[in-house]
Amino acid sequence: MDREFWHARWSNDEIGFHQDEVHPVLVDHWPALGLKPGSRILVPLAGKSLDMRWLADQGYRVTGIELSAIAAAAFFDEQQIAYTRERRGAFDCFVSQHIEIRVGDIFDMTQAELARFEGFYDRAALIAIPEENRARYVAHLMGGLRRGATGLLITFSYDEALMDGPPFSVTDEDIGELYGQYAHVDLMAERRGPAKSTHLRDKGLNDVRDGIYRIVRR
Ligand SMILES: C[S@@+](CC[C@H](N)C(=O)[O-])C[C@H]1O[C@@H](n2cnc3c(N)ncnc32)[C@H](O)[C@@H]1O
Repeated sequence: MDREFWHARWSNDEIGFHQDEVHPVLVDHWPALGLKPGSRILVPLAGKSLDMRWLADQGYRVTGIELSAIAAAAFFDEQQIAYTRERRGAFDCFVSQHIEIRVGDIFDMTQAELARFEGFYDRAALIAIPEENRARYVAHLMGGLRRGATGLLITFSYDEALMDGPPFSVTDEDIGELYGQYAHVDLMAERRGPAKSTHLRDKGLNDVRDGIYRIVRR
């Protein structure tokens, strides 16, 4: 998936991945991570997710990383949060008191910038990345995050004969191979059922599985 693919999705308003409510998995499972309010939380490939607002409402300092300026502007406008805009290195930053969205490529974040975060939240980030780039993404994130940094990861798996991604199907085995060398990985829960979005159900995704993991950087 190159950058143009995602810019076109945002320009054409083809954002079936966006949810108009806070993800119930976040509300149910985030507290078990034990991250203190005030901690800095990274939200890679953030879109305009309402989950950033929920995290900020719990007292965290939230930084989303997102390719599309359309997504960042829409987030602040729709949430009615005032922001300023400033250039910092490779990123066009939309900055508010508790939430910042840095517009740019996650791979342009330096290791020193990543080292500032105590936690991270990945919903529809890893599963949006094609298989050939997944190990690079995980190595980049895990290479920068500090020891003890803790994240909640939500994955999605399905019968790949039914559809080409994104979202791509990622299994427990994939997660073990990708994260196991860097982090303690616990499967906290799993959920099965039909895909939430109509467009995925139209492709026959009536039996999908969400894996919900706690990842702790070693
Ligand atoms: C499937 S969407 C998920 C968005 C969000 N996590 C959510 O739950 O709604 C993936 C997002 O990642 C962004 N994206 C894709 N590649 C990226 C990259 N290399 N760096 C930063 N953002 C990226 C896309 O523009 C898109 O908004």
